[in-house]
Amino acid sequence: MKPSNPNTINNTLCFTLGDWNNKACVRNKKGNYFLPPEQELGFELKCKYWFPPTFMPYLQHPLLTDIDKRIKQKLTANHLIHFLDYTTVLEHKIVNRSVETIIHGGLSIDTPEEMRSAALQLYTDEGYHALFSYEIAKQVAEYYGIQHLQSKPLRITLLLEFIDSVDIEHKALAWLLIGFVSETIIAKELLKVTCHTIVSSVYTILRQHLEDEAQHSRFFAEVFYYFWQNIETDQQLLAAKLLKDIIFIFSEIDKPWLTKSLCSTGFSAAQACAIIQPLLNKPAAIQRIRVGAAPTLMAMKRAGVFDNKYNRLHFKEAGLIDD
Ligand SMILES: [Fe+2]
Ligand SMILES: [Fe+2]
Repeated sequence: MKPSNPNTINNTLCFTLGDWNNKACVRNKKGNYFLPPEQELGFELKCKYWFPPTFMPYLQHPLLTDIDKRIKQKLTANHLIHFLDYTTVLEHKIVNRSVETIIHGGLSIDTPEEMRSAALQLYTDEGYHALFSYEIAKQVAEYYGIQHLQSKPLRITLLLEFIDSVDIEHKALAWLLIGFVSETIIAKELLKVTCHTIVSSVYTILRQHLEDEAQHSRFFAEVFYYFWQNIETDQQLLAAKLLKDIIFIFSEIDKPWLTKSLCSTGFSAAQACAIIQPLLNKPAAIQRIRVGAAPTLMAMKRAGVFDNKYNRLHFKEAGLIDD
């Protein structure tokens, strides 16, 4: 195990989740993850959606622009259930699995005590996020009489396949990097879903989740900075390659799920394919990734990843940075 470099632990790295005991929603928001009574919900649904249409770019497709409001609302319900089911699995099987490597070791360098304590708090937060995501998804699925959690979200499958493909001696590093990307990208995703055009109880849990994630994002950016400064050069080169692959996985469109969602509201498979196709267009996808992963790329830059010309070239060729 390489000893950590004490020079990298300076005043800018504090490894905390802020005032966790008073601010984290698992500590101070209890059980407010229930939909309102049916009459109140019906009233809300006259002017609100389950998920912000602005965060569903496929609704801009000409085949969808003039659709009936009830179909659009059902598509937003499908999108919310999918997003929450994905979140539930992500928190347990991906993020907390990554956090375990910080808490229980396996990495090639020492973990500062403050980092380990904050990681234990973060692990607790994610368990609660999984709980309220599951509970809301279940209620919305019941409201529409649909099954949920039937298939694994595509990104989860790809992340687990990715981990399988990494050599055993680098798996702990790969898990750490997955946590870093996930936690710096997700805050951005949630930021976009916090608007008042969605059902109030959904808005509340997304808002609370976002507030916790802002702390997680800061924490993981610091963790990444610390590890980057302390790992060997050959590990840095490998880490940069892994990071590029992970960022691409976190930007994947779940085509099988989206096809199913569209077909459940009456679109044919051919129409669903036509609606999804523009999202898969490479330049559009790269642009989407650059926007979504901007905080991740910024944290990498701050840590010095792109000071190395090979890393810079690698990300430039992938279209993720300009220089
Ligand atoms: Fe979370
Ligand atoms: Fe998180």
